[in-house]
Amino acid sequence: MKSFINVEDLGDLKQALAEAQEIKQERYKYQHLGKNKTLMMIFFNNSLRTRLSTQKAAMNLGMNVIVLDVNAGAWKLETERGVIMNGDKSEHLLEAIPVMGCYCDIIGVRSFAGLKDRDYDYAETVLKQFIQYSGKPVFAMETATVHPLQAFADLITIEEYKTVQRPKVVLTWAPHCRALPQAVPNSFAQWMLAAPNVDLVITHPHGYELDPQFTRGARIEYDQKTAFEGADFIYAKNWSNPGVTNPADYGKITCEDMSWTVDTEHMSWTNNGKFMHCLPVRRNLIVTDDVIESPNSIVIPEAANREISCSVVLKRMLEAL
Ligand code: CP
Repeated sequence: MKSFINVEDLGDLKQALAEAQEIKQERYKYQHLGKNKTLMMIFFNNSLRTRLSTQKAAMNLGMNVIVLDVNAGAWKLETERGVIMNGDKSEHLLEAIPVMGCYCDIIGVRSFAGLKDRDYDYAETVLKQFIQYSGKPVFAMETATVHPLQAFADLITIEEYKTVQRPKVVLTWAPHCRALPQAVPNSFAQWMLAAPNVDLVITHPHGYELDPQFTRGARIEYDQKTAFEGADFIYAKNWSNPGVTNPADYGKITCEDMSWTVDTEHMSWTNNGKFMHCLPVRRNLIVTDDVIESPNSIVIPEAANREISCSVVLKRMLEAL
């Protein structure tokens, strides 16, 4: 596997899920693959889970790991071509990327959406430059528009906790005080639609429609209660306005309706549903204390599976070197 961005990069999902379970039983089985190989993790934004789980997965596979926080200790990087670099940015990404590629065998990139220019964010310019100029396999550790390691971990978790063959999985928008990217819901929708046995319903306020490239074929239900009825899993997430119905709204908060916060009443509409969130989560905006602390909350095992999803991806990349 040369890059990992979308669900298709993983090939057969049943096979990938079986591989995940195998690795979960025997985390150090493939240590030989990473001997004398180096992973470089590059962060343009903050992280807790991705940073720790990716490093752990790489160590399980016997790799060396280098972490670069671009905004803490590195030269400030210019990302645009054609700019006269007489400001505070000392280095251009187009030199920095091939230099970084010299020091490692695989690169993980976290690049965030600016939420100002939809075309720029959805073009995935930074990620694509890493793919083009690093000369190394590249995987997304959440980019402007996708978070595949999270979505794969979510699918592993649903497989582990489902009690029916084809669970009803509801992706619900919830309110937030800051404008957040659409990467997590985009990938979640894409992966659930590709999964062999998932009945996906997406619910959000009018105007928050996700990009159809990720949701084509999904059932959209604007009434949250109707969406929740009979659900086996509730996946809560905030996202800012994707600008699909009105491009001028891209990246803005156009709904602050707190009735969308997932509370015990919401969960009572479900089929004893499990609660999921990728974390970090703002309590009592996205979800109430009661729900996230309830026995039906599986946010911690979900986070734990980030180590497993990443282990499968790195194993595949190491095998292809
Ligand atoms: N879910 C997730 O990606 O968490 P971090 O932002 O902490 O890495």
